[in-house]
Amino acid sequence: MAKKPLRSQKSYGKLDRDGFIHRSWIKGTGLPDHVFDGRPVIGICNTWSELVTCQFHLRDLAEYVKRGVWEAGGVPIEFPAMSLPETQMRPTAMLFRNLLAMEVEESIRANPIDGVVLLGGCDKTTPGQLMGAASVDLPTMVVSSGPMLNGKWHGKDIGSGTDVWRFSEAVRAGEMTLKDFLSAESSMSRSHGVCNTMGTASTMASLMEALGVCLPNNAALPGVDSRRKTLAHLTGNRIVQLVKDDVKLSQILTREAFENAILMHAAIGGSTNAVVHLLALAGRVGIELTLEDFDRLGREVPLLVNLMPSGKYLMEDFCYAGGCPAVMKELGPLFRREAITVSGHTQGEIADAAEVWNREVIGTVEQPVGPSSGVWVLRGNLCPDGAILKPSAASPELLTHRGRAVVFEDIEDYHARIDAPDLEVDETSILVLKGCGPKGYPGMPEVGNMALPPKLLQKGVRDMVRISDARMSGTAYGTVILHVSPEAEAGGPLALVRTGDEIEFDGPNRTLNLLVSEAELAQRRREWEAGLQPSRFDRGWYRLYIDTVLQADRGADLDFLVGKSSAEVTRESH
Ligand code: FES
Repeated sequence: MAKKPLRSQKSYGKLDRDGFIHRSWIKGTGLPDHVFDGRPVIGICNTWSELVTCQFHLRDLAEYVKRGVWEAGGVPIEFPAMSLPETQMRPTAMLFRNLLAMEVEESIRANPIDGVVLLGGCDKTTPGQLMGAASVDLPTMVVSSGPMLNGKWHGKDIGSGTDVWRFSEAVRAGEMTLKDFLSAESSMSRSHGVCNTMGTASTMASLMEALGVCLPNNAALPGVDSRRKTLAHLTGNRIVQLVKDDVKLSQILTREAFENAILMHAAIGGSTNAVVHLLALAGRVGIELTLEDFDRLGREVPLLVNLMPSGKYLMEDFCYAGGCPAVMKELGPLFRREAITVSGHTQGEIADAAEVWNREVIGTVEQPVGPSSGVWVLRGNLCPDGAILKPSAASPELLTHRGRAVVFEDIEDYHARIDAPDLEVDETSILVLKGCGPKGYPGMPEVGNMALPPKLLQKGVRDMVRISDARMSGTAYGTVILHVSPEAEAGGPLALVRTGDEIEFDGPNRTLNLLVSEAELAQRRREWEAGLQPSRFDRGWYRLYIDTVLQADRGADLDFLVGKSSAEVTRESH
């Protein structure tokens, strides 16, 4: 059977006015005539920027992808996408994940590209790029930034984010000087690459391996390790072959691939942010994935990886211990071994070729680092559409708790009152923060792990039950109930909680309930509705986002972006 012509040939293969225009204006970049003879054109979608160290080296890394593409007989063409620097963007990088996804989707679809390599790393770039690419469904591979080297300070290893939270609480408790606190800054982030803990960036890079959309060891090789350049080169080789074999992203992103991602997420003690990102990605490719899938599949998996914030070590150690392929090996028959990957090997073949080199860092199912560690999905009258908690980052004694709510109406209210000496709070209280969901902040920021009141910190209290419609950083820890859906801004029951209410949290039975009568809640709802104000955001991206964003239980994607799409464009440009 004759091979169907490549997509790029619709632009570059025509010997008419349209072909002249498409070729002429790209020949100006230095490409010779013969590269338009029907060879695969590979787009390299690069989120490089100087705005954050996470993606600072991607311009260099793209050159190695190009080497691999040229070597395999393809034509590499690099193009930019917004970089979403997690630590710089306000009000939160998450507000822009879907904007990046739209940018990537339309850039791929509109241009004469046959396959694509996604270069990203910081928390929202990986899901945003893959969501966009999934909606076009060309052959696609991911190359991640790779983690920073271990932080080194005062003779010990320090982890991105995790030690920021720890140090800042120590300062608030009067146990650390400001001078020491500030001196840790340049020791924590001392190379290019993403956060060196198992935060959201490394969680998402690990899930890329579990989904099968990158080459093995993509997650853990440090950003500055020469083997990451080799991985980029080999990705360039491989994407050309995927185009020749017409292996589309939807053939990789199967139900089994998502199940593998959830199993990996539990084994590594991954970031809670991965839940919203996987749900959104599944929505793009028409895979039915629910919050309950995380709880159900995660229950089977103990914590296998001893990395901050759930454990002790950092990503560099994870790399030397064997990385994600070694975790797959330890998961054994739990992992969906027959799932295919972009490497040309099944997940089972990748796992069989792996070794564990350090049992301190990667445990076994029989002798794990910790107990069942996935994500707990809670239901109850406070979260009818769900809420989540990461048990491996929580205090075991707080996983069943009944307490009095101390409510903050929004983040400004929290900042105004949390340090007040007369705040009526003790260690049995439950801190409740409203107005921080997708519509509320807007963008669902990482404020769910709100800092504790100084007067309790000074008494030695280090954890309390906290509840919000926000997310939390993947590097954070604590008994923090997140992603309450529907959010307060959308009229969820969270909007009705008042200081002094009793709340009952029963982790083992997965419930979260507000112990207030139905009649009282109905009265409060009438009062809440009467007090509604028009949104202060009346234009641009903020307006579109607030009007169309879905709740956390549906991945916080925009409602009109859910569902399968394609690479089809029927009209010429002139
Ligand atoms: Fe970019 Fe953490 S700030 S990965």
